[in-house]
Amino acid sequence: MITTVKTRALIISVMLSLIAVESLGADVRDRPRKDGILLVAFGSSEKSAQVSFENIDREVKASYPGIPVRWAYTSRIIRDKLARQGTSLDSPETALAKMQDEQFTHVAVQSLHTIAGAEFHDLRRTVGAFRTTGGFRNLVLGYPLMSTQEDMEHVVNAIQATIPVKRSKEDAVVLMGHGTHHPANAFYTALMFRLQLDDPNIFVGTVEGYPEVGLLKKLLLEKKIKKAYLIPFMSVAGDHAKNDMAGDEDDSWISILTGAGIECVPVMKGTAEFGDFVDIWVDHLGESLEKLAENS
Ligand code: CO
Repeated sequence: MITTVKTRALIISVMLSLIAVESLGADVRDRPRKDGILLVAFGSSEKSAQVSFENIDREVKASYPGIPVRWAYTSRIIRDKLARQGTSLDSPETALAKMQDEQFTHVAVQSLHTIAGAEFHDLRRTVGAFRTTGGFRNLVLGYPLMSTQEDMEHVVNAIQATIPVKRSKEDAVVLMGHGTHHPANAFYTALMFRLQLDDPNIFVGTVEGYPEVGLLKKLLLEKKIKKAYLIPFMSVAGDHAKNDMAGDEDDSWISILTGAGIECVPVMKGTAEFGDFVDIWVDHLGESLEKLAENS
C-alpha cells in the first residue's frame, strides 16, 4: 500500500544492513554485496520536464537512502538530441553494463513509464538479457505506473487528488495520455471507464493511440460541456503537452476543443511533478527492493 512506503523503506534498510554484515563472512570468491537502483524513463529534452525527473530522484533517494541511484532513458531520439546539447544520458543497456562494471551485485530496475507498452517491454528484454549473462546476482524489474487493477485504483486516487481545486463538477477534465500501437493502449479507455464511475466528466484521450481527440470532442459536446481542464497524463509536461495539447497549431487539442466552443484551461504539469503519482512508482520500486533483500 502507498501509505506503507516509509515503513517498507525502513524494513529494507534494516534487511540490507543485516545482509551487509552477513556478507563480510561470506566466501571470498563472492563479490561483496552492492545494491543499486536504476531508474528508467522514456526521457525528455524539454527543460520543463526536468522538474519531474528531479522530483522522482529526490523521492526515491529519500525513501530508500544509502542505495546508489542511476538513470537511463529508453528513447534513442531523446538521448541523441540531449547528446547534441552536451548532456549524456545512458540507454538501459549502457547503464546496466556500467553498473555491472561498478561491481553492483543486486539491482532494482524501475520503469518510470505510464503503462507497460512497447518501451517497457523493450526494457524487459534488456533486463532479461542481463539476467542470463549472470553479471549480477539478482536483477529485478519494477512495473510502470499503471499495470495492475490495484495500480489503477491508486492512479484514480492520484488523478482525483491533483485536479485543480478551481474546477467545478460541470467542467470537464481532459487527460492527455501518450498512446501507443502496443496492446497495452487499452489501459487508457479502461482508466476513463473507472474514472467516470466516480466523476462522469473526466475523459482520457491519447496523442498517438485510442481514444483520439476527435472522439473526446464528440463526447464533450454530447454532454454539453462548456469548460475543460486539459491535463497531461504523462510523467512530464514536455513536447506533447506544449505542442499537441496546448500549442497554437490548428490540430492541437486546445485549438480543436476551443473551436468547438469549449473554453479550455491547460495545466502544464506532468504526473511525476505530484507526490501522489510518484508514490506509486516509488512503491513499485520498494516491492523490488524487498525481493532483492530476500536474496543473497
Ligand atoms: Co511521443
